[in-house]
Amino acid sequence: MKKLVKVLSLAMSLLLLGCVLSACSSAPAATATLTFGTNAEFPPFEFVTANGTIGEFDGIDIAIAKQVAEDNNMTPVIENMEFDSLLVALQNGQIDAAIAGMTITDERLESVDFSNPYYTATQVMIVKDDSDITCAADMADKKICVIQGYTGEICVNDMGYPYESFKKGTEAVMELVNGKCDVVVLDSATAIKYVNDNEGLKIVEDPSAFESEEYAIAVAKGNTELLNKINTVLEKMINDGTISELGAKYSEMG
Ligand code: ARG
Repeated sequence: MKKLVKVLSLAMSLLLLGCVLSACSSAPAATATLTFGTNAEFPPFEFVTANGTIGEFDGIDIAIAKQVAEDNNMTPVIENMEFDSLLVALQNGQIDAAIAGMTITDERLESVDFSNPYYTATQVMIVKDDSDITCAADMADKKICVIQGYTGEICVNDMGYPYESFKKGTEAVMELVNGKCDVVVLDSATAIKYVNDNEGLKIVEDPSAFESEEYAIAVAKGNTELLNKINTVLEKMINDGTISELGAKYSEMG
């Protein structure tokens, strides 16, 4: 009996010591992680950089992801993958949410749920400075480049024009710069980035041909718990002007 008491009290003091030590150490308590999938080929929304907001990733979406996680006492994790893979990754639970400047479409709504929108965009045409393309119909007899799986590809496909698709925006833009195609159809903010980064390009808009699009965060179908958390943070960030500030900050950068 005495022995048991001794053993027990030793165990208790060790336990106490452990508590004291851990309280003194600076290691933060382990928190749950929130994994966001993205395709970091889409400035100013997401891009790879040496010193980003989350690891090597930065951009408007990455800042939003960080805020969503932090407001819920979670640690944000970014998984970079092909844009085409995001919806499948959500469905099979590899990621909790997809944040990728992703436009809400009826087709996507069949496989995932979307948050409230946080950004309005439209497709535009990137052409050479001396191009004679002034509206979408002018693309009819031109070589068109799109990015695989983006809404720009869907638009051009719906217009019935032939096109070539690339995995990355930069690849399509290089094709245009090198004179191998006449026009790249891409989301407005990203298109502006590429035009600023490359000599001799300009943007042609045609609002009558391209409808406005809304970006939102996608979660697995039925994950209302996470969706509510996301919407709460988005609402706060929209109302207090944070999203507009992020838009301005990342559009000016680079
Ligand atoms: N808004 C377009 C879409 O939803 C393009 C998004 C591309 N995003 C990216 N992170 N690569 O299809």
